Amino acid sequence: MAKRYYLTTPIYYVNSTPHAGHALTMLVCDVTKRHRQMRGEDVVFLTGTDENGQKIKEAAEKAGEEPMAFVDRISQTFIDCARRLNIDYDIFMRTTSEQHRRASQALFNILREKGHIYEGTYEGWYDVSSETFVRETDLVDGKSPDGNPVQWVSEQNWFFRLSAFEQPLLDHIAANPDFLLPEGRRNEVLSFIRQGLRDMCITRENQGWGIELPGDPSKVIYVWFEALINYLAATGWPEPGWEDLWPADVHWMAKEIFVRFHATLWPAMLMAAELPLPKTVIAHGWFVFGDAKMSKSKGNVVSPEDLVTRFTKAGCTPELAVDAARWVLIRAVPYENDTNFTHAEIARTYNADLANDLGNALNRSLSMAHKFVGGVMPEADIEPEAAAAIEQAKRDIMSAFDRQRLDDATEAAIGLVRFLNKYIDQRAPWALNKSGDPALSAVVASMLMIMRAAEGLVRTFVPAAADAMAAQLGVPPLTSLELIGVPSSLPGGTKLGQPAPMFPRLDLSKTDDTMETPAEPTPKKEKPKRGLPEPADEVTIDEFFRFNLRVARVIEAQRVEGSDKLMKLQVRVGEDQRQIVAGIAQQYAPEDLIGRQVCVVFNLKPAKLMGLESQGMIMAADDSNGGAILLEPDKEAPEGTRIH
Ligand code: MSP
Repeated sequence: MAKRYYLTTPIYYVNSTPHAGHALTMLVCDVTKRHRQMRGEDVVFLTGTDENGQKIKEAAEKAGEEPMAFVDRISQTFIDCARRLNIDYDIFMRTTSEQHRRASQALFNILREKGHIYEGTYEGWYDVSSETFVRETDLVDGKSPDGNPVQWVSEQNWFFRLSAFEQPLLDHIAANPDFLLPEGRRNEVLSFIRQGLRDMCITRENQGWGIELPGDPSKVIYVWFEALINYLAATGWPEPGWEDLWPADVHWMAKEIFVRFHATLWPAMLMAAELPLPKTVIAHGWFVFGDAKMSKSKGNVVSPEDLVTRFTKAGCTPELAVDAARWVLIRAVPYENDTNFTHAEIARTYNADLANDLGNALNRSLSMAHKFVGGVMPEADIEPEAAAAIEQAKRDIMSAFDRQRLDDATEAAIGLVRFLNKYIDQRAPWALNKSGDPALSAVVASMLMIMRAAEGLVRTFVPAAADAMAAQLGVPPLTSLELIGVPSSLPGGTKLGQPAPMFPRLDLSKTDDTMETPAEPTPKKEKPKRGLPEPADEVTIDEFFRFNLRVARVIEAQRVEGSDKLMKLQVRVGEDQRQIVAGIAQQYAPEDLIGRQVCVVFNLKPAKLMGLESQGMIMAADDSNGGAILLEPDKEAPEGTRIH
C-alpha cells in the first residue's frame, strides 16, 4: 500500500475541557487534511487525549471521581468539540487504550535492549502541572520556569541517554530544512541542543495510575515519554502495516511543547529505536487574551461553543455558524508571534471576509447574471485576466499548504473573492449591458467562473458555506482542485440558483456578549445629527463654481463598526480614489452601493467621523425622516465628470 499522508495534533490533557486554543490545532490539521484530499491524496488525521499523568489523577481526585470514569468523561468533551467544529479526524487515540499501552511498553523494551536506557536515582523537583522534571538551578522563586509549584522527588528510576543524541539531532536538523518549522523556533531548538542535552528520567513511582514498566509494576513510564509514542501507536506499530502511515508527514502543536519534547526528545527516541523521523514538526504560537496565554486555569478562555453561539445569534444557520467559527479561528492562526484573540477582532474578521467580501461577491455575481443574461451561465470563454487570477490563486493555495502556511492559504482563498469584487467594479457589467457591448457574456461568465473557483478554494475552511455556494450556482460541490477553473466545472447553459444571504453582518454593539472579555475600546457615541444650516439667499455663479462636484463610482462599501448610521466608502473619481464616510447605512446596504455612480463634493475639507477620515461628501436628498436618498446621474456618465 502506498504511504498515506499522516498528520497529528498533540494529544490533549484531560484535566480540563477544550477551549479555542485546543480547537485551533485540530482545525489546522482538519483544513490541511481537506486540502490534501482535494489534491487526491489519501490522508489520515490523528488527534486524541493524554490521560496518564499525575495531574490527571489529581484532577480526578479533586472532582471526586474514579480516574477512569473521569478521563472517559473529559476525553468525550474533546471528541464533542471536534464534532462541533466539523473536524474530520480519522483516529482519536487515548493513552489509556490497550493499543497505546502495548506500543509504549514495546518501545521501552527496544530502547532497553539497545542499551539506550539505564537505571539510576532521580533526586530533584517535579512540576506536576507541566509534568516535567526541573533542575534546582532552573527554579525561579521556588517555582518551575513555567511558574508552577514543584514537589521534591527522590526515586529509583530509569534514564534515557538523551545526551548521546546531541550531534545526530544537530546533523538531522542541518540536513533537513523542513524538519523543524517555523525557522525562528528551529533556531530555539538549535540553541537548546547546543547548550547540552542531559539524560532524561523516564519512569515514575507507580501511584496506581499510568503505564506500568514492563517487568517492574512498581514503576510507570514517565507520562511525556509515553505520550509521544501515541503518534506511533496510532499507526498500529509494532504490528505489521504501520509503514503505511509512518513516518508522520507533519506533527502540529503550539510552541510550549515544541523545543524540549517534539523537536528534541521525540526524534531522539525514534533515532534510538532506529525508526524514521517525522518529516515536519511545526509549532504555532498561542492565542492570548490580554497578555496571558488562553488557558482554563487563568479563566480567560473562549470556548468553541461560545463562538458558534455567537454566530448563530448573529443570524447564521447552525452549519454556517460553525463555518464562521472555523473561519475566524483559522484566520487568526499565529506563527512566529501570538494572536490576541479578542471579540472585536473576531467580529472584524467575520464581517470583512465573510459578510462583506464573500457575501457581496456571491450576491453581485448571481444578481447580475439574473439581471443581464437571464440567469444562466453564458456560453462564452472567460476573460484572460479572470483565468490568470484563478490559476494564480490555485498555485498560491497549494504552495501555502506545502509550506504549512495556513495564513497564506486563507489569504489566497479570500484574495480570489476580493479579486472578483474588483473585477466586477472594473469590468462594470451594468455599463456593458446598457451600451449593448458584446463583451458582457464573457464578463458575466468570468464572474461566475471565479465564484465557482472560490467555492473550491474556500471549501477547505468553510465546507458548509462552499456547499451553499455550489447550490446557489446550480452545480454539485467542487471537491477536486484539478477542476478549479476548468470550463466543465460550470458548463455554459447551467441554470443558476437565486442568491441567498449566508453570513449576516455581526453588529458588535448588539451582540449579547456572555463571554469573558478583556476591555475593548467602547465605540464613541455619534453626535446627534444637527439640522442643516440655512442656505444663503443668493450666491454668484462664480461662488457656485468654487464647488468641485463630480461623478464618482463606489468601489467598496463597509458599515462602520459601532455605528448604525455610518458607511465607509471608497469611491473612484476619474484617476483618484477617495474614502468618504457617509450617514447612509440605515437606508443602504453595502451591496446596494458597490458599483453604483454617485455625486460627490470633491473639494470639501477632510473631516474625521468616528476616527475615520472622510475626504469629501456624497450628495443626497433627505427623505421624510431625514434619511438619505442618493443622487445618481440619469445615465452612466464617465467617472470624474464635473457636475454643475
Ligand atoms: N498532553 C500534552 C501534549 C502531549 S503530545 C504528545 C499537552 N496537552 S495540552 O492539553 O496542554 O495541549 C497543548 C496543546 O493545545 C498546544 O500545544 C496547542 O496545540 C493547543 N493549545 C492549548 N492552548 C492553546 C492556546 N492558548 N493557543 C494555541 N494553542 C493552544 O501539552
